[in-house]
Amino acid sequence: MTITESPARSYGPTPLTLDELVELTRETAREVRAGLHEIHFDAEHRWSVRLRSDTYADVWLITWTRDQSTTLHDHAGSLGALTVVDGALTERVWRVTPEGAGLRDRRLEAGRGVAFPVGYVHDVVNTSATPAVSVHAYSPPLTAMSYYRVDEAGALRRTHSVLTHDPEPDVPTLTEVPTGPRRTDAPGEAVDR
Ligand SMILES: [Fe+2]
Repeated sequence: MTITESPARSYGPTPLTLDELVELTRETAREVRAGLHEIHFDAEHRWSVRLRSDTYADVWLITWTRDQSTTLHDHAGSLGALTVVDGALTERVWRVTPEGAGLRDRRLEAGRGVAFPVGYVHDVVNTSATPAVSVHAYSPPLTAMSYYRVDEAGALRRTHSVLTHDPEPDVPTLTEVPTGPRRTDAPGEAVDR
C-alpha cells in the first residue's frame, strides 16, 4: 500500500487516519472477493450499497459499468479511501504542483488502495468494457459533497454542493452556488435548496 499524500493533510475531524481508512477498504474488499456481499451492476446508474456504518466511518460498495463516472467532486469535511476489488478504475485528481495545476490521471488496478485527504478533488471513471467493483470509506461519514469543473482558463471552479450521506446522490439538494448577487425569488422561497 502506498499513500503519497502529505502527512500534514492526512488528518481530519476523526480519530481514524488515512492509513486506517485504506485498510478498512482493503479488509472489506477481501470480504467482497470472498462472496460475503451481493454485487449488482446497473448500466444506467452506478449501483451502490452501504455495507457498514458507525460513528466514525461509512463503508460503501460501488459498481461501475463502462464510462460510468462520478464527475469532479470532493467529500466536504470527510477523509476518504477506496480499494478496487475487481476490474480497473481511472482516477482524475486535481493536483497543484510547482509546474502548475491540473488534472492528473492514474489507473487503479484491482487490489490498489488510495486515500483522500480533506480538500481532495477527483473524478473516478471506468474507461474499460470490463465492469469494475470498488469499496469506499469516509470518515467522518459523508454529510456533503461539492462538484467542480475546470474552466476555460484551466482553473478549478466549484459548481454546486449537495447535502448527502450517500456518495452516489441522486438529486442535488443545493442548487448552483451563487457567485454574484443573490437571486430575488418569490418571497419566502429558499435560494439555496
Ligand atoms: Fe470521491
